[in-house]
Amino acid sequence: MINMRRIKVRVRHGYEVMVGKNLLKDCGKYINLTDTRISRIFLVSETNVAPLFLDKTVDSLKRAGYEVVTYIFEAGEQSKNLDEVAKMLGILAENRFTRTDAVVALGGGVTTDMAGFVASIFLRGIKVFQIPTTLLAQVDASVGGKTGVDLKEGKNLVGAFHQPSLVICDCDLLSTLNDTVFSEGMGEVIKYAFISDRKLYEKLKTRLTKTSDKLEDIVARCVELKADVVEKDELDNGLRQTLNFGHTIGHVIECKSNYTVPHGFAVAKGMALISRKSPVYSDLVEMLKLYELPYEDDITADEILDGILNDKKKRGSKITVAIVNEIGKCDLETIEATELTRYL
Ligand code: GLY
Repeated sequence: MINMRRIKVRVRHGYEVMVGKNLLKDCGKYINLTDTRISRIFLVSETNVAPLFLDKTVDSLKRAGYEVVTYIFEAGEQSKNLDEVAKMLGILAENRFTRTDAVVALGGGVTTDMAGFVASIFLRGIKVFQIPTTLLAQVDASVGGKTGVDLKEGKNLVGAFHQPSLVICDCDLLSTLNDTVFSEGMGEVIKYAFISDRKLYEKLKTRLTKTSDKLEDIVARCVELKADVVEKDELDNGLRQTLNFGHTIGHVIECKSNYTVPHGFAVAKGMALISRKSPVYSDLVEMLKLYELPYEDDITADEILDGILNDKKKRGSKITVAIVNEIGKCDLETIEATELTRYL
């Protein structure tokens, strides 16, 4: 008997997020239980993840009766672009995928974002099933339907909201993560604690590792927190912007580094930079240090201002910034983008 949590995301096209162990081997069965009409699957993965988990995933999909076409791209944020999307769309078209076929994403945030985007635009939208393999993708990227790719001018500037039909978070997969990728995910977990859950913050004070038994509970809690926000604001017009804590400056740092600074590290720096004048600053820095995350960057105020002019979250000349002045509570402040420096 497999012990797992099923967390519902009650949006217009609602779905479940499964969180547990040893789930990958039955992913085909779970997809089949969600929708019996699908016959073919376009399985998207990348060069780091495929050697570890592709065979097991393909086996499971085939055992469930699916015909599988696989697409493996070069791992890394540099691949998250329109050229890669065009290649995938071409393969879907060549193989005559139809509206009752589906995309499965097997990988981290780059994979879930990009495969989700391909699914959102092919034939004006086919189903996507997310199998996130990193902590960051399990607690954030795979849930909530944000999909897209980067332009050289900025991160995630092209995209669509396209909710998955099911998310399968197999926490056993996390034990293979290298330390950097695990810490990156912890950056997002720390974000949830600071914006909305003081109890989660207390739990994180005892250092978690990638093999910790408690990790499953932590993933499930973060997914619950995210589901709650997404249900209230699916299209990112209000409350969902609290999930951007650290991301406004983080995206600028990432883009400026030409995506050599990993997303989770950039968000960690972004959370610390935007909180410099906040009463939570020292607790935040302590926690970032505990999980070996960076909290300083030599980016200048001018570079930040220049970068946010291309932020997709800007509305006219204004930007909404997520600010934490008390652990577990987040405020949204809408300001002229040029005033961002007052927090630094
Ligand atoms: N990653 C932030 C969001 O999904 O809104």
